[in-house]
Amino acid sequence: MKISDSMVAAINDQIKAEFDSAYIYLAMSAYLENSGLSGMAHWMNKQYKEEVEHAERFIKYLYERGARVIIPEIAKPKEAYPSAVEVFREAYRHEQYVTSRIYKLVDMAIAEKDYATQSMLKWYVDEQLEEEDNTGSIVAKFEFLGEDKHSVYMIDKELAAR
Ligand code: FEO
Repeated sequence: MKISDSMVAAINDQIKAEFDSAYIYLAMSAYLENSGLSGMAHWMNKQYKEEVEHAERFIKYLYERGARVIIPEIAKPKEAYPSAVEVFREAYRHEQYVTSRIYKLVDMAIAEKDYATQSMLKWYVDEQLEEEDNTGSIVAKFEFLGEDKHSVYMIDKELAAR
């Protein structure tokens, strides 16, 4: 069954959102590295690479459906943040936003009775659950330990192990 033009457009739009996410995390990683927090920067750099994989997974799916892939322009991300905890708060909010986007794609696939796209999106639904949990847990850690130098040092050390 042929994939609809509107679904192809929506997935291409999501490919852009995934590359935008990758760039946001790369910029967050640079900010953290420049702030001397190399463990957190390492964690964020892994996140950047995961986002590129998310985009690539959508690209591969469109190829499988014989649809046209549009390689998007990537938005310039923010360069600076007030503090390390704010970086992770923003990452958490960003993941919630991405989840809402994925859910909209699922709604669309259901409305169009596009079972192949519904099945493909299942992986993203599960992945978003994990990504919200990962970023949310780091924010919770900051809130539990506080933001003094000793706590920040401990969290930095822990995130270096990702
Ligand atoms: Fe691709 Fe972090 O969602």
